[in-house]
Amino acid sequence: MPNDTVSQALSVEEDCAQAEIHPLIAQRRTRRAFSSKLVEPQVVRALLEAARWAPSSMNEQPWSFILATRQHPVEFDRMLGCLLEFNVPWAQHAPVLLLAVARSSFSRSGDVNRHALYDVGQAVAALTYQAIASGLTVCQMAGFDIQKARSIYSIPDDHEPVVVVAIGYQGDPANLPEKVRRKEIAPRKRNSLDHFVFEAKWGQPSRWQDSSQTQRT
Ligand SMILES: Cc1cc2nc3c(=O)[nH]c(=O)nc-3n(C[C@H](O)[C@H](O)[C@H](O)COP(=O)(O)O)c2cc1C
Repeated sequence: MPNDTVSQALSVEEDCAQAEIHPLIAQRRTRRAFSSKLVEPQVVRALLEAARWAPSSMNEQPWSFILATRQHPVEFDRMLGCLLEFNVPWAQHAPVLLLAVARSSFSRSGDVNRHALYDVGQAVAALTYQAIASGLTVCQMAGFDIQKARSIYSIPDDHEPVVVVAIGYQGDPANLPEKVRRKEIAPRKRNSLDHFVFEAKWGQPSRWQDSSQTQRT
């Protein structure tokens, strides 16, 4: 892969940051182009270990992960077969696919755990940043057939398939289908802080967004 092509394609200006953040967070973006390099087993294990240490409501740890790697083609194809069509052309090249599942009830009481999805999201976030720190790229996918996944993997009724995650080393975006490639290299956009940080009442922008205000306080 020509390195300059990749760096040129990926060096598109991002939306202006409104405060300095850790490079690990600033540098992460969803990547859909994967190189053919496999992910070393100890690196995969570290990703799962990172997820393991995520915080969760009542320390319930409601997450489970079903892993499929390209080293095991039958298993890999089984998970690939759960993805919706638009994700297949690029996800088929990811060396690791992972289905995250949430247990919807507390194991001790059987009560509904309304934070289960939240906690699984935190576990996947921890896994994602561990992946970025290890030089990997990640794409999380809601685009999969939940019923198919439930049936193929015999996932119990009180568990909810949440997301499929594609993980691998960065590939050349030039190899992606055109529509996906455009998404891959487009500048990222985010709502500004005043769009979602409020104070005193819903919809009222917080003074913390304004650096001149925060310096005075
Ligand atoms: C829960 C979730 C589901 C997503 N589903 C898909 C998907 O099915 N296919 C896809 O190409 N990208 C998917 N994405 C990636 C988002 O499009 C991407 O995170 C978003 O556009 C922001 O871009 P960034 O991750 O580069 O900051 C998903 C991301 C998340 C967090």
